[in-house]
Amino acid sequence: MADIETDVLVVGTGPAGSATAALLSSAGVANMVVNRYRWLANTPRAHITNQRAMEVLRDLGPDVEAEAVMHASPQELMGENVFCESLAGEEIGRMKSWGTHPLSKAEHLLSSPTFMNDLPQTFMEPILFKTACSRGTQARMSTEYLSHVQDEDGVTTTLRDRLSGGTFTVRSKFLVGADGGNSLVAEQLGLPFEGKMGVGGSMNILFRADLSKYVAHRPSVLYWVMQPGADVGGIGMGLVRMVRPWNEWLIVWGYDINQPPPDVTPELATEVARQLVGDPALEIELLGANTWTVNNCFATNMQKGRVFIMGDAAHRHPPSNGLGSNTSIQDGFNLAWKLAKVVKGQAGIGLLDSYTVERAPIARQIVTRANQSIAEFGPIFEALGMDGGVDHEKIQKNMEARCDATPAAEAQREALRKAMAFKKYEFDAHGVEMNQRYRSDAVVTDGQEEPAFEKDRELHYAPTTWPGARLPHVWVFERSGNKVSTLDLCGRGEFTLLTGIGGEAWVKAAETVGAELGLPIRTHVIGPRRPIEDHTGDWARASEIRDAGCLIVRPDHHVAWRSETLAADPVAELRRVLKSILAR
Ligand code: FDA
Repeated sequence: MADIETDVLVVGTGPAGSATAALLSSAGVANMVVNRYRWLANTPRAHITNQRAMEVLRDLGPDVEAEAVMHASPQELMGENVFCESLAGEEIGRMKSWGTHPLSKAEHLLSSPTFMNDLPQTFMEPILFKTACSRGTQARMSTEYLSHVQDEDGVTTTLRDRLSGGTFTVRSKFLVGADGGNSLVAEQLGLPFEGKMGVGGSMNILFRADLSKYVAHRPSVLYWVMQPGADVGGIGMGLVRMVRPWNEWLIVWGYDINQPPPDVTPELATEVARQLVGDPALEIELLGANTWTVNNCFATNMQKGRVFIMGDAAHRHPPSNGLGSNTSIQDGFNLAWKLAKVVKGQAGIGLLDSYTVERAPIARQIVTRANQSIAEFGPIFEALGMDGGVDHEKIQKNMEARCDATPAAEAQREALRKAMAFKKYEFDAHGVEMNQRYRSDAVVTDGQEEPAFEKDRELHYAPTTWPGARLPHVWVFERSGNKVSTLDLCGRGEFTLLTGIGGEAWVKAAETVGAELGLPIRTHVIGPRRPIEDHTGDWARASEIRDAGCLIVRPDHHVAWRSETLAADPVAELRRVLKSILAR
């Protein structure tokens, strides 16, 4: 007999684990989450929070989204990625990033009801964790995962209470390993990984200092410092990152991975801070320092039987593009509703197989992207004549040559501009953030080909209702005049059917099939004098179906199926589609 029973045990209270627990509790599923430490993240590692992650928070409730917005630095402050010799020194160039360029901003506004923001992990985790615990999650801190065994009906996990030293067991239907980049759950499952750990070395230096005079006139979250030596190890370049404007900072500086990691003493931390800020008299209040390695590694299978891995446990990569915590939260959004449906008996256990089918390709994509982004600093170094050598005087001369009045210097300036603009693949890659499309048994094709991406798929989001894609956001209107996003009509743990005038038979069919399957299906009819109106015509343009057609939207906002017109037998069609998606 196990000491404790629950439906889902989650190991880890990082963005992945806390989000999953919050979503499970919101769906009314008994769950327990453990963390080997006594509290949540103690360093503000993740911060760039993209629209898709914010949509998950919005799905958890307007209060959750509002709290995140309240604590975040707004998008306007994120914008001018600065490349400089030091904060006090010469500026080499800058680019508008994270959706702050007017053209990019328009795309952001058109794509989502949410805004990108800068929310340090030290704020994000407590929001998610509090949401989970207040809605029913049983959380145990200072509790370490040791091992598990699974059988046909469930998983028995052994944990250690780090306060008493004693061990105890938890019996659950499912186990989720959200235990980070050194995941013991993943290791014990023996899941296959591709790639390499430890391809570069970085040190983090967290400190307080008022740097307003160097930055307030060019607000950004990232100030990239190009000095001789900046191209060694790490994330590609020296970085002074805003944590709180403009008095809390995190410096990321590389070290040679072939050497042992440096001991980041207060003296070394102060020296690096002074060097990157460019103020030899700078006094800092050091809050912490540590070293970490850059990884390039992802799981090609994220589950075995009743045990799943998510977040950094499955995808291990540098912070470039700011994808880690965002993708971790989205892994949770994908898995939580599936677990909830299975636990509630509304879906067969086969539904869970779609988790790895849908998320492992994303793991591969984001790890590859993040590591490529490091490599794409190369042309900037090249344009500046930073050759990775140790002759700092020569490098400085190369860098300064760009100011000369010679054809060579003009070519150098042009190369530098191009190389910096190319960094949009790291700092303004909206498509990477928003274009996730799934192909799995939890999606039923309507026989249409996947629409091609007309623009660069890494840079631009391409909305479509092609089954497997995320439901496009447009604003529609309640009869009261209240504006709501199409995403707000869906989600919150349930399937939703969207149709228009002439599609009322779909609504009836949803009632019939929902009752048959014991599955709540929310329905919305959109059109003039209907509960939801499309005054702008945006929905008519975005839906890619006729008025009497329908879309079935999964709880995670992805389109499960669509019918362009009214089917001859809507009940039979819905039954076929839902039974297939739910593995029943
Ligand atoms: P995470 O590592 O956060 O959490 C793991 C959890 O498991 C912890 O609670 C831990 O205590 C627990 N745990 C581990 N082993 C355990 C055991 N045996 N028993 C019990 N508990 C155990 N991402 C992003 O989206 N935007 C960004 O801007 C950045 N920026 C950034 C900057 C820097 C400098 C770094 C180093 C990283 C980022 N990231 C990022 C990445 C981001 O921090 C990372 O991807 C997420 O924290 C991953 O979340 P997880 O929940 O998967 O793991």
